Amino acid sequence: MYVAALLLATGVALLLWHAASALAYYALMLRRSRAYRPPKGAFSGTVTVVIPTYNESKIIRGKLDNVASQWDPSRLEIIVVDSSTDGTADEVERWSRGRGLPVKVLREASRSGKHAAENWALREARGDVVVFTDADCEWSPGSLRSALSSLAAPGVGLVTCIKEPPRGVEGTYRSLYNVLRLGESQVHSTPIAHGELLAVRRDLATKLGGLRPGADDSDLAHRVAMEGLRSIALPDAVCREYVPGRGYFRWKLRRAQHLVEHMARASRDLPRAPKGYRAVLAWESFLHLVNPWLALASLASLAASAALGSLPAAVVLALIAASMTLGMARTWALEQLFLVTAMVKNLRGREYVWEKVEKPLSP
Ligand code: GDD
Ligand code: MN
Repeated sequence: MYVAALLLATGVALLLWHAASALAYYALMLRRSRAYRPPKGAFSGTVTVVIPTYNESKIIRGKLDNVASQWDPSRLEIIVVDSSTDGTADEVERWSRGRGLPVKVLREASRSGKHAAENWALREARGDVVVFTDADCEWSPGSLRSALSSLAAPGVGLVTCIKEPPRGVEGTYRSLYNVLRLGESQVHSTPIAHGELLAVRRDLATKLGGLRPGADDSDLAHRVAMEGLRSIALPDAVCREYVPGRGYFRWKLRRAQHLVEHMARASRDLPRAPKGYRAVLAWESFLHLVNPWLALASLASLAASAALGSLPAAVVLALIAASMTLGMARTWALEQLFLVTAMVKNLRGREYVWEKVEKPLSP
């Protein structure tokens, strides 16, 4: 009986710790995000948009239309760096001829991953600013303009988009996370950026050695922040991304593996991180790397206590189960599960060149 009571107390304490940390950070960032007015400057340079592609022939034309509609063509260079086997590069050349807009197509002899492709494009780029963007997403009108003007503001080193919440679980997840990204950007910088729109001055990206494998986008944002410059997300640069139906879990897990690897690496820079950013980094490291384990340990304690006959433990477990009818709680729980699984899977390594997950043909 004594053991059951101890397990119950431990389980409840861990659960409160887990929930309170997440809620406190969310509340803090919600306030910050409401006070956030992204810095703006006047951008007058040239831009290179880099699109890495692996078997995107069905959607690449729409992507190019979307990019070309956002900026003065005379100050825009588009580079597609392609390792496809489905004729994506030919499709790009057809689009280019049809529209009378030049596109530089870099054809890779073999597939060596998104980061390697982007690094090749970075070496070829001539624009003052380089904007990396995945093929399978769409920028809402004005996103590029907004990104470039914020990047021209003093002290800003990198800008990224937020993501328009789709329907379903992924949508709830996005709404929550957009608030965090914007709040963190108000404080100083966000350690999590999106490959759907990642804008950085070319000389800075080159000086930092380009992109590294894994969560290449977030990793670059973090390294820019460590330089003392701000990496910020913008409320008026919004991307719609194609979310897979089948294969969703595999897709989420691979991203989670990259994300926790990134947070683990970034957290080692905590002692040297600039003030402001250090607090954000500390919270995010905790939330990604430690907090999911608190939830798991809590459930294990409660389950053990219930198994030993504790009625209150069974009631708490039933309440947790009942809370799963709330979309928000369900999304949160699923996310914790992805993070824990990703950390365990990372012990055996991760993929830097990943299998393509089929997505619908529009976001
Ligand atoms: N050239 C080239 N070579 N392009 C590639 C390769 C490759 O080996 N692998 C993927 N790409 C391209 C895709 O065609 C797409 O345009 C973009 O890179 C992103 O690939 P997705 O397969 O759509 O990845 P994702 O959206 O699930 O990945 C997300 O997480 C990654 C980190 O885990 C995005 O946010 C990525 O930007 C991020 O790097
Ligand atoms: Mn994608």
